[in-house]
Amino acid sequence: MVDHIGLLVTNDPTVGEGPLGIVRNASVVFAEGRVMAVGAAGQVADECIDAAGRCVMPGFVDSHTHLVFAGDRADEFAARMAGRPYEAGGIRVSVEATRAASDAELTRLTALRRAEARRAGITTVEIKSGYGLNAHHEARCLQVGERFTRDTTFLGAHVVPPEFDGRTDDYVHHVCTDMLAAAAPHARWIDAFCEVGAFDADQCRAVLQAGRAVGLGLRLHANQLGLGPGVQLAVEMGCASADHCTYLSDADIAALAGSTTVATFLPATDFCTRQPYPDARRVLDAGATVALATNCNPGSSYTTSMSLCIALAVRDMHMTPEEALLAATLGGAQALRRTDVGRLEVGARADLVVLDAPSYTHLVYRPGVPLIALTIDAGQVHPPTISRVSAWPGHAENHGVGW
Ligand code: NIG
Repeated sequence: MVDHIGLLVTNDPTVGEGPLGIVRNASVVFAEGRVMAVGAAGQVADECIDAAGRCVMPGFVDSHTHLVFAGDRADEFAARMAGRPYEAGGIRVSVEATRAASDAELTRLTALRRAEARRAGITTVEIKSGYGLNAHHEARCLQVGERFTRDTTFLGAHVVPPEFDGRTDDYVHHVCTDMLAAAAPHARWIDAFCEVGAFDADQCRAVLQAGRAVGLGLRLHANQLGLGPGVQLAVEMGCASADHCTYLSDADIAALAGSTTVATFLPATDFCTRQPYPDARRVLDAGATVALATNCNPGSSYTTSMSLCIALAVRDMHMTPEEALLAATLGGAQALRRTDVGRLEVGARADLVVLDAPSYTHLVYRPGVPLIALTIDAGQVHPPTISRVSAWPGHAENHGVGW
């Protein structure tokens, strides 16, 4: 149990105030990885973590990452900061390094990134392939990914690999046949990069249709580097999520608002690639469902910080702190079509974050400060010994023993 919670965000408006379902002076009881009770402070349980007035919220649901890769592209990043634009072609550098890495090395690197994400409060993660780009290596990357999440995504249509130079349609056929056959047993989702320099709308539609035919759910990289057909294609195909949405026309916003496709914003990408930020305000005001994700990858967004994404969404995309927190938790769950995460209600996965702050607003108010005191992932507490967490002096009535 976590007790003496100053401000509990449940994301369940039936148990607390407003859309975040806020309960003050609360506790959450969990057992066997599930939430057993949400209520006033002072419930009874065998083991107790004393939150000492801190804010507790659902773990972050990161619905867009590319965690399985080898090597890094720091030089490309530095060149970009010196003025070079981000281009899809950089992906090939990571493909070469990933193909050269052993299964054990890819697993080790992915585990390190997954642990880093957990320390940052992420309890659910989606993981894409996309740095293998042939049947053997895509299947291998997905097999690594499925060790860390049930939400693995086949992204064979990430970019055309060198061996198919000048033969994009042949490569798309390969993605839809041999690669899909090898990848599908290890994937829940299929995705494609709909962008100039990657794949056009017809090619992406063919990939999504092939994935749907073998039972995969659909998602799409859309409108990252400019206006284009991606968002409308995602809606037309009934994708669970259209990801990036950096450039949106009025028609794109209307299409999202009239659909069940979640608009997933990746503001750390816009930060790292010096793109403008999307106009989230217009999307929210139109009534679309919105998610925030880190897009952790070696090229356009090498971060596991959902706190950074929330700060950017509020500072630069004009979302309120409440909207941003909802998008990073429940919105991510909706983008993955999951009902067991993103919300603290009886029966949900016991995924909680204890903040070293009295309110979630501090995620924006104190940018860059590591405020995640504890992450509880399916009932497992990280870091495992709470004595590693220092005292939080900001609360008048500090019940903490060993904090
Ligand atoms: O979502 N845009 C396509 N894929 C990644 C970038 C991958 C890379 O540059 O390595 C993204 O931003």
